[in-house]
Amino acid sequence: MDNRPIGVFDSGIGGLTAVKELSAILPDEEIVYFGDTGRVPYGTRSPETILAYAREDMDFLMKYNPKAIMVACGTVSSVALQTIKSDYDVKIIGVVKSAAKKAAETTRNGRIGVISTGATHKSGAFKKAVAEVSDAEVFSAACPLFIPLVENGYIERDNKVTRLVAADYLAPVLDKGVDTLILGCTHFPVIKDLIADLAPGVALIDSGKEAALHLKDHLTENGLLSDGRHGANRYFVSDAADGFSKVAKMFLGRDIDGEITKITF
Ligand code: DGL
Repeated sequence: MDNRPIGVFDSGIGGLTAVKELSAILPDEEIVYFGDTGRVPYGTRSPETILAYAREDMDFLMKYNPKAIMVACGTVSSVALQTIKSDYDVKIIGVVKSAAKKAAETTRNGRIGVISTGATHKSGAFKKAVAEVSDAEVFSAACPLFIPLVENGYIERDNKVTRLVAADYLAPVLDKGVDTLILGCTHFPVIKDLIADLAPGVALIDSGKEAALHLKDHLTENGLLSDGRHGANRYFVSDAADGFSKVAKMFLGRDIDGEITKITF
């Protein structure tokens, strides 16, 4: 048994979609979340900058002596995971490998789509991860506009603007006949229903959820589950906390007003 917290970080608030899954899958665990809201987005930045930011995010969470760290950010998981894994002496789980494995198990026709930020798309990380476990073909697309659309609340299933953008982004991937689509970015589960409507019959893989399931396996196999005797979850951000709490509800599904602390590096 291990009652130390699980650290989770993301470029901003989007990682709360992963926290939502984590809390459902591992309800007895304490979570310390850091969202780098002062420097979001990461998905438009260079690999060097993403790595430098990821190191600072890691340094912050390491102060809480976590038993594991989940990198909820698809971009950091794609671009910087291997480096931070070798730099830090803690179990680190990203969102790429487990989603790739689930997609490879799910596809029936061996054609998998991936949608993500530009940096994730450029990295080819999901394609490489699928290639490690199967012969399936991977077709990926960058969907950068989904991020501001979600953050600005354009999330209703029938939202005309988001549907138009989504149809345009998804067409090249769907045209390849994919039967499985990885949501490779924190924000995309929020518009999962809208994406599902545009991709009938396609199985959608939530990368945050798959990573949370993987983390559960790790903690279980190593006797590291918590017995629930610990403090409340903590949420930290690097920009004004009030702006964060407004949209946090959309990602997490509940209010965390008053539970958020702004930090400076
Ligand atoms: N959290 C990022 C991701 O999952 C999306 C937002 C950003 O570009 O920083 O890739």
